[in-house]
Amino acid sequence: MSSRKISYAFLTDPREQFARDVARGLTLSGQKELSSTYLYDEVGSPLFEAITNLAEYGLTRADERLLARHAADIVSRLKSQVLVAELGSGSGRKTRWILEALTRRQRTTYCPIEISPTALARCESELGQIEYVSIVGFERPYLDGLLAAASGRHQNEHLLVLFLGSTIGNFDRDAGERFLAEVRRILYPGDALLLGTDLEKPLPQLIAAYDDPTGVTAAFNLNLLARINRELGADFDLAAFRHEARYNSAERRIEMHLRSRRDQSVTILNAGCTVTFAKDETIWTESSHKYRADEIPAMARRTGYRCDAQWLDSEWLFAENLLVAE
Ligand SMILES: C[S@@+](CC[C@H](N)C(=O)[O-])C[C@H]1O[C@@H](n2cnc3c(N)ncnc32)[C@H](O)[C@@H]1O
Repeated sequence: MSSRKISYAFLTDPREQFARDVARGLTLSGQKELSSTYLYDEVGSPLFEAITNLAEYGLTRADERLLARHAADIVSRLKSQVLVAELGSGSGRKTRWILEALTRRQRTTYCPIEISPTALARCESELGQIEYVSIVGFERPYLDGLLAAASGRHQNEHLLVLFLGSTIGNFDRDAGERFLAEVRRILYPGDALLLGTDLEKPLPQLIAAYDDPTGVTAAFNLNLLARINRELGADFDLAAFRHEARYNSAERRIEMHLRSRRDQSVTILNAGCTVTFAKDETIWTESSHKYRADEIPAMARRTGYRCDAQWLDSEWLFAENLLVAE
């Protein structure tokens, strides 16, 4: 590809960017919102790991079952020498299956790209012991990190980009497609993107996955307000908000919100603002879009890939998709 123009999601100073995004998102005239990226910090990342072990949250286990079952097939479809980069690796637990399959045929460099230093450290310790794997971590936003990882590739080395856990679902559908196209601009023809996508499923199953009875997902969501208190000198009273998960059937997505239990105002010193909340007003903190399996090949075609293969889990409807850059 000749075009190498990449958009950057973050400015250099993440704390300043956080303050700016919080001030903007909480002073919107309509629905208040905060980016789900900010859910992951030294408290949020371990809470997310706990969520992946909950009985109600079958998504991660489905993703891992598919990788465990099909790693050899996935790897056999790749060009001969590959550099692996993972967008938002989290703990990297599932990635072990791909790395171990690859090391049966080559020494492998693995580049996890993570905004959360806690998740990146966990990933490096989780996967650091695999023989024949070298880890080069990037504590950066997705595209910035991918560009840096790609610039380290050797001649004749192909990229395998992993985007697992249906993290694509955190983007609005249009933004998700724009993101896939931006990733494509960093790739060369023949490079691959392994994309995990959570599929539509019955409503009670979906709601339970994002509103578990043990309250771990609620803690994960509320931690965002605690993070604003810690990092931006705010005075959120966490007891005055409650976690809510709802399904938006028009958009086919779960939305996580934080609902204000009363009229209140909150001062965020380092963001230079005071925000008022009416009783029952919400802050929208995360979207998790759900897909139909046959949507993915079409989405791949629109963004510069072909879908080489798709593997489905029947226990928890989930698709692993191998997209190849055209
Ligand atoms: C939904 S979790 C998925 C983690 C893991 N891939 C999995 O499948 O379990 C999303 C991960 O992406 C990271 N993340 C979120 N926004 C990011 C961004 N803009 N750039 C880099 N990493 C980001 C988070 O810190 C988090 O670890």
